[in-house]
Amino acid sequence: MTVRKAIFPAAGLGTRFLPVTKAQPKEMLPLVDKPTIQYGVEEAIASGIEQVIMVTGGGKRAIVDHFDRSVDLEHYLRERDRGDLLQILAEVDRLSEQVDITYIQQKAPRGLGDAVWTARRLVEGEPCAVLLADDVILCENNPVLKQLIDAHAKTGATVLAVRRVPRSQVSRYGIIATNGSHDGLHEVTDVVEKPSAEDAPSDLAALGRYVITPAVFDELSRGTPGAGKEIQLVDAIKRTIGRHHVVALEFEGDYYDTGTVPGYLRANLMLAMKREELRGELEPLLRELLQNRD
Ligand code: UTP
Repeated sequence: MTVRKAIFPAAGLGTRFLPVTKAQPKEMLPLVDKPTIQYGVEEAIASGIEQVIMVTGGGKRAIVDHFDRSVDLEHYLRERDRGDLLQILAEVDRLSEQVDITYIQQKAPRGLGDAVWTARRLVEGEPCAVLLADDVILCENNPVLKQLIDAHAKTGATVLAVRRVPRSQVSRYGIIATNGSHDGLHEVTDVVEKPSAEDAPSDLAALGRYVITPAVFDELSRGTPGAGKEIQLVDAIKRTIGRHHVVALEFEGDYYDTGTVPGYLRANLMLAMKREELRGELEPLLRELLQNRD
């Protein structure tokens, strides 16, 4: 069955970014000049997704407004002959023409698994994608979600996106255990949340892209809380192992973790340096900063 729907859990409180997230969704924080969530929606469209399901909570109105038209702003820019800026608005509008964007409220932030479960009726028993907008993954050709969807089409399995990380960093991630790999796919036998370097079963870290099968929703229906008393998506996926096929794909692409302040700053700097019009100003500034530090 093809993957037509993508869930974007965006109901978290973004506490690592307080105070900026007090009255503003973290998904709307800019990477240079585009909100992080827009990168995810663009990736979903480029991967052939037809319906985006945003799971939002209180205070997330800005996400809805971002993907809606802004008639007043358009009028203002038209009167001032700012065709260049109207073009930018048109590009955002085009996204919601290419994909249906549906919104559903998670009633309380009970965890990522609960956010995904909130979307169950909209998913209608189909395999579906889950994208965490914090994890921005940019690929030259084949978007990472498309790579996952292709892996699902081949195997019918739940698919996790993984990347090798230095042993010193394994304690920040869910690390997979695998009993072998073929065709670039690892057979997943377990996922260990935030292990120490000694206990980690591999150096393959699961990042914020998944294709999940209906079996995962069956497990989520139990509502079993895990770490932090939250309902964890990875726990539900783990409980399907043995009865259902779970594989991990080592994706190709540039990964930016924008969910922490240092990761967010790194992503902004790196993406800004890729833009010619900004590099000219930034490069001398960075050199000067590095020379003058003491
Ligand atoms: P995170 O833990 O990274 O995001 O959840 P957070 O909770 O917003 O941020 P911190 O930890 O307080 O700084 C991973 C993803 O799951 C979503 C978040 O929006 C994020 O995209 N999420 C998390 C929900 O949608 N609902 C929840 O109850 C929890």
